[in-house]
Amino acid sequence: MSAEFNAANRRWDDPRAVASSASAICIAGGKGGVGKSHIALNVALALGKMKYRVMLLDGDFGNANIHVMIGMEPLHTLNDVVLGHCEFNDVIVQGPHGVQFIHSASGYHDLFSLPTLGQMGLVSAFNGLSEDIDYLIVDTASGINQSSLNFCCACHEIILVLNNEPTSIVDTAALINILFGRYQLRRFRVLVNMGNSANDGREVFNRLMEVTADIGPVFIDYLGYLPFDRGVSLAAREQVALMDYAPESRVIKRLEQVAKRVSEWPARKESSGVTEFFVENNLSQQESR
Ligand SMILES: Nc1ncnc2c1ncn2[C@@H]1O[C@H](COP(=O)(O)OP(=O)(O)OP(=O)(O)O)[C@@H](O)[C@H]1O
Ligand SMILES: [Mg+2]
Repeated sequence: MSAEFNAANRRWDDPRAVASSASAICIAGGKGGVGKSHIALNVALALGKMKYRVMLLDGDFGNANIHVMIGMEPLHTLNDVVLGHCEFNDVIVQGPHGVQFIHSASGYHDLFSLPTLGQMGLVSAFNGLSEDIDYLIVDTASGINQSSLNFCCACHEIILVLNNEPTSIVDTAALINILFGRYQLRRFRVLVNMGNSANDGREVFNRLMEVTADIGPVFIDYLGYLPFDRGVSLAAREQVALMDYAPESRVIKRLEQVAKRVSEWPARKESSGVTEFFVENNLSQQESR
């Protein structure tokens, strides 16, 4: 059955048609400080707990901080690979719940772009891992910067994180606008963080639907909301992931539901039978821009 895009309500009639792959998932957001890194980390750990083989890439090359959040002191970072100080395999480290981490170091924003990583063979290195890993989760820098846009293009799914502040909603709409307008990306999953209630989360989502109504045929899927919880910053202070600091908290229960949703997105079927983490077609299109 082929999918019909219903422009009136911005939904595909066949839900299978919008869920092509869950292999590489980009966590992005228009505004800073909305909880992207916290969510990337804990969704990765939740998938790890579910016994999936997960890798988490810290793609916030301006302010890489996933390793700080869990008190890891990486011997090598992706920066060292780019600078020729070590091999790609040297930067893969084992973390909690079987999740493998690729850390980055801050302050190298200009050095890294996905085309740069592609030229250095790193994209193929990631793709070479595709048989050993079920999910690659990529945490990105906030806002409209080239490396985050590149990651959005290169991944199969994009989870946009926002909160209930008008600026966050407007900035998320701006990000969707550019990802659709410039790169023809049409499928976005949305997670409202630090919401006050289910109603609050739904209102934020509805507001986002309103302000994106004129962008074009984009599909925006609501993944739900996460409540504000002081435990998140207490865990960060202890340098322990919330998954281990407060595994029974509402935030973690909801993030586990999100991970379950992610795991239900049908796997990508490549004609070659090989699942590639990064969608190289998208990358090569960008490199030729
Ligand atoms: N649900 C929540 N409840 C309470 N505090 C939260 C929640 N989610 C995130 N925070 C806090 O919000 C702050 C920002 O979180 P985080 O660093 O994950 O955001 P970010 O979007 O990755 O930021 P940046 O844009 O700087 O990368 C942190 O202090 C974190 O502890
Ligand atoms: Mg962050």
